[in-house]
Amino acid sequence: MINHPSQVIAIGGASGLIGKALCTALERDGHTVKRLVRREVKDPEHEIYWKPSAGEIDAESLRGVDATVHLGGVGIADQRWTAEFKKKLHDSRVQSTRLICETLAAMDEKPRVHVNASAIGYYGVRGDERIDESSPGGTGFLADMCRDWEAATQSAWESGIRVCQMRIGVVLSSQGGALAKMLTPFRMGAGGVLGSGDQYMSWAALDDVVSAIQFALDHDPMHGAVNATSPQPVTNREFTEALGEVLHRPTVLRTPAFAVRLAAGREMAEEMLLGGARIYPTRLTSEGFSFVYPDIRDALKAALA
Ligand SMILES: NC(=O)c1ccc[n+]([C@@H]2O[C@H](COP(=O)([O-])OP(=O)(O)OC[C@H]3O[C@@H](n4cnc5c(N)ncnc54)[C@H](OP(=O)(O)O)[C@@H]3O)[C@@H](O)[C@H]2O)c1
Repeated sequence: MINHPSQVIAIGGASGLIGKALCTALERDGHTVKRLVRREVKDPEHEIYWKPSAGEIDAESLRGVDATVHLGGVGIADQRWTAEFKKKLHDSRVQSTRLICETLAAMDEKPRVHVNASAIGYYGVRGDERIDESSPGGTGFLADMCRDWEAATQSAWESGIRVCQMRIGVVLSSQGGALAKMLTPFRMGAGGVLGSGDQYMSWAALDDVVSAIQFALDHDPMHGAVNATSPQPVTNREFTEALGEVLHRPTVLRTPAFAVRLAAGREMAEEMLLGGARIYPTRLTSEGFSFVYPDIRDALKAALA
């Protein structure tokens, strides 16, 4: 961060795909990172205890923190979406976000900024409509959950803390997330279009997501919803072709929609695999953020290098 050198930043969900990469980037830039941990603290200088499911957080240890980031939540595609699992997905995000934001709001000396994860699921399934932060939210489980998730930051915002909700797209990394799951079938030559292949996939390279969070931490005009997605969203067909090309594998096998529904369950299939939204990062680009990997082929090559 250029405008705010040497900050103390507390991070929830620090052990996750994005959290780990963010901690590394912030520490490399000379900041002090304090990880919020859901277990016993082993390193009191760099860890802060919390247990969101029990409403517990060591508020005293947050004293003196300049900024906070929360990236926690049970993995969205870890299981089929049973009613019980959907409740876990929802509560792990909304309760933890509410806990940290209410705690920050009650502090005498508050951090300057809080950046919270949200997701492009906020927009629902939108065909080829061009979507940015000014677009209304959509419908469905993910859209409803994202609305509650973002609303859970309200107390921090009302207390005067600058709050950004990063509506993160499909993060491309070989270390985890959607791409890592796709690699085995694609490497075996069994990768292909899902359903019609016309559905949009709004994606972002992991490095760009990390930089976008750092940009949001650093840039005082940034607040509210921020789409963390590449400025070049692609259809499932374009993504499939690009991944096949980068891996030098054929992608002729097409999985029909009914088979996707059967494998993933109807709701997850419709909202995450067969449906999508064509999302543009207007807030980031209009504030001068530049993407290192706007192009899908370059992003995939870098992720798989
Ligand atoms: N990766 C993507 O493509 C993508 C796309 C859109 C949105 N997002 C959102 O961005 C955030 C970070 O994504 P990610 O890919 O880094 O996720 P991730 O790898 O699944 O990591 C999420 C972290 O959340 C914490 N966590 C797990 N279960 C929890 C629970 N029950 N209560 C509270 N925290 C819990 C864990 O960290 P600790 O053990 O350190 O607490 C975990 O490492 C998530 O909220 C995700 O929904 C990600």
